[in-house]
Amino acid sequence: MAVIADRCPEIQVAVVDINQARIDAWNDADLSRLPVYEPGLDVVVGRVRGRNLHFSTSVEEQIALADMVFISVNTPTKSKGLGAGQASDLRWVEACARTVAQAAAGHTIVVEKSTLPVRTAAAIKTILEAAQQQDGQQRTFSVLSNPEFLAEGTAIRDLEEPDRVLIGGDDAAATEALARIYGHWVDAAKILRTNLWSSELSKLAANAFLAQRISSINSIAAFCEASGADVREVARAIGTDSRIGPKFLNAGPGFGGSCFQKDILNLVYLCRHFALPEVADYWESVVTLNTWQQHRIAQLVVQKLFGTVTGKRLAVLGFAFKADTNDTREAPAIRICGDLLEEGAQLAIHDPKVVPAQMARDLKQEAAEAADALNGTGSWALAQSVEEAVAGADAVLILTEWRQYQQLNWQELAARMRRPAWVFDARAVVNPEAVRAAGLTLWRVGDGEG
Ligand code: UDX
Repeated sequence: MAVIADRCPEIQVAVVDINQARIDAWNDADLSRLPVYEPGLDVVVGRVRGRNLHFSTSVEEQIALADMVFISVNTPTKSKGLGAGQASDLRWVEACARTVAQAAAGHTIVVEKSTLPVRTAAAIKTILEAAQQQDGQQRTFSVLSNPEFLAEGTAIRDLEEPDRVLIGGDDAAATEALARIYGHWVDAAKILRTNLWSSELSKLAANAFLAQRISSINSIAAFCEASGADVREVARAIGTDSRIGPKFLNAGPGFGGSCFQKDILNLVYLCRHFALPEVADYWESVVTLNTWQQHRIAQLVVQKLFGTVTGKRLAVLGFAFKADTNDTREAPAIRICGDLLEEGAQLAIHDPKVVPAQMARDLKQEAAEAADALNGTGSWALAQSVEEAVAGADAVLILTEWRQYQQLNWQELAARMRRPAWVFDARAVVNPEAVRAAGLTLWRVGDGEG
């Protein structure tokens, strides 16, 4: 919405939420304290906030004023009930649809921005149409699907220069109204129009294909480690085939983030619902491989450290699910650290952006100083710097590809560690020669020569 406001000065954009604290944070005079860390977002918000971008809790009031309402709420995986563990939890989407139904005035275009299961628009339409008939007032609705393809960390660039914008719907006038907004800065040829169901499914399918590439390269990484090949050489060799392409072929600790796992599980659930069990199994294996990769990395750390990490100090560099974000949703670090805590390790965790309260929530354990190191109870503590993290450590684990981890002074760090000392580079960001020259033993994901 900040980018829309920036590119369309004549449009008033109101962002509303029922959470007062969240809205206050978006209105914070100090732009470095916005609730989402995203490179460049502070600049855009600083430029448009108060001009044509407004944050408030006046939900009903703003809906009544709006010509177009974007539903942009969470659709996490259901944790209980029918479809638990796979289906999307639509309670917030439905609550929004009901609020819009009650509060809207005149004609309102309702845009699904949240990622939704296929045919959700039908439910939204039914709720809206029921309100239309309910009190005899003059209100009408059009429903569009307009999924978001931005990736975190590059959100502003992805929005300003999208590969495509997708608009699904059967109301031509509504579709064109939304296309005109994007037309302020996006090439007409990049604005794709489809029916509602294709649009909803395209979002799930795009994420499934992207995640599948990561599981594919991670499966090959494991094979490389076993066979003496190097996954980066293999990735380059296959990525130069123009049909495959070079992007999204970085082996790592497995994908994280709020979308990939959730969307694939949702797709799996829908496939089963539509009696396509083979298709469901096919996509589910992408998630299974991803989970396996995370456990595999924790296991090999234990194995290389003489079969036990009980009481050992391990420096964990990176907790976010990728660089340039403070988001930890489904971060591989959660499962890997969880396994190591279970093994009794003492973790010193460093991340440039993730706050310790978030780490405590994710690890389901408060930070604590290591008590009796050999009693078998794992513990973790925040490290303010990489130097602090590695002090006295037996091993360093790199789990997020933050730029600063690519330029570490290994001679200096090695001097602070307990020997024999290891570096486990799950993102392949370090310079292998520099690590080895510092007398450290290196394991790199997908490196069969290590
Ligand atoms: C993703 C999609 O890219 C985006 O289009 C969609 O709108 C939302 O989901 P996001 O989750 O923000 O975006 O990040 P992305 O860059 O796709 O990375 C997802 C995960 O895959 C991260 O954990 C990342 O580290 C990992 N990844 C990515 C790899 O392990 N290897 C790669 O080559 C690329």
